[in-house]
Amino acid sequence: MAHGMNADASFPLRPTASPTPADVRADRLANPGFGRVFTDHMAIAHYTEGRGWHDLAIAPRQALTVDPACAVLHYAQEIFEGLKAYRTPDGGVQLFRTEANARRFQKSAERLAMPQLPVEMFVESCRALVLNERDWIPEIDGGSLYLRPFMIATETFLGVKPSSEYIYMVIASSVGAYFKGGAPAVSIWASENYTRAAPGGTGAAKCGGNYAASLIAQAEAIRQGCDQVVFLDAVERKYIEELGGMNVFFVFDDGSIATPPLSDTILAGITRDSLITLARARGIEVREERYSLDQWRADAATGRLVEAFACGTAAVVTPISMVKARSGDFQIGSGAPGQVTIALREALVAIQNGRAPDPHHWVEKLA
Ligand SMILES: Cc1ncc(COP(=O)(O)O)c(C=O)c1O
Repeated sequence: MAHGMNADASFPLRPTASPTPADVRADRLANPGFGRVFTDHMAIAHYTEGRGWHDLAIAPRQALTVDPACAVLHYAQEIFEGLKAYRTPDGGVQLFRTEANARRFQKSAERLAMPQLPVEMFVESCRALVLNERDWIPEIDGGSLYLRPFMIATETFLGVKPSSEYIYMVIASSVGAYFKGGAPAVSIWASENYTRAAPGGTGAAKCGGNYAASLIAQAEAIRQGCDQVVFLDAVERKYIEELGGMNVFFVFDDGSIATPPLSDTILAGITRDSLITLARARGIEVREERYSLDQWRADAATGRLVEAFACGTAAVVTPISMVKARSGDFQIGSGAPGQVTIALREALVAIQNGRAPDPHHWVEKLA
């Protein structure tokens, strides 16, 4: 697809005429939950075939007006990202691995036949929005500003072909800890009826359609009394892939850890990559290898498998307490969060919050 032709990646500010009063904002930030409190502005850019990216701005957050024949509404040509801005102990604000999200956004765009957003434009949109909205980062434990960059196909046209027009936006949401109480252990339902992604499909892209297709399995998990769903591979229906919105790791009694290898059916999580790096830096052996549900159950029974956890930007690192499946349930370790899980979580969070040195140069301090 065509690359953005706009060399200037800056997002000039068009401020809102009606900013949220400070006392109302303080009220909302006291207990923001996740994904419900939004800031006053958003980043926006338009793409037109033949013209490239244009009309970049940090603009007042407002509703979109689209034609009922808008392409995204019918053919789901849509991709998104998720990352956070953190408040540092000195009152500053910083981003974590934004360029990795920018590159993943490009990969998703390629798979969905959408135009490439230059990495610098993606990064600059996040920087400019965060700097403008920094007062919206909750000063509570685990508080951060969750950024949601996304791109939608906006051509008015009924027909299955790539759109000739797109809108890129970044909205920001003030969030607390994803799970109340930090990192409680979750139970997961291994879906043997539904798969998330097939080879050659869109599993490695962060496109809305993947999530729409996962909802029925997540609903099944809830019906089974579980918190989350874990998907098996679509070919053999044997190997663990990932959760609906998180990658998964296994911890063994010899101190080594393993995670399913990346493929075109698994989203390449930036948390996953960061944890692999942090674990190896601590001398932990990390294997990227296929692991079956049956092996997991057997290893949990013998005690070879001692911990398991899920990871992603929203919830960081979440211990898994038990697995439920049609073929039998099993508990992980004692059912309580394990030592390796907690240590990796704390190491990552400390870097993200600016409470520990950043040896891998993941953090960009904005202010
Ligand atoms: C399907 C899926 N897997 C894994 C992840 C974790 O990715 P990251 O660590 O980049 O947030 C996400 C989202 O955040 C996801 O949606």
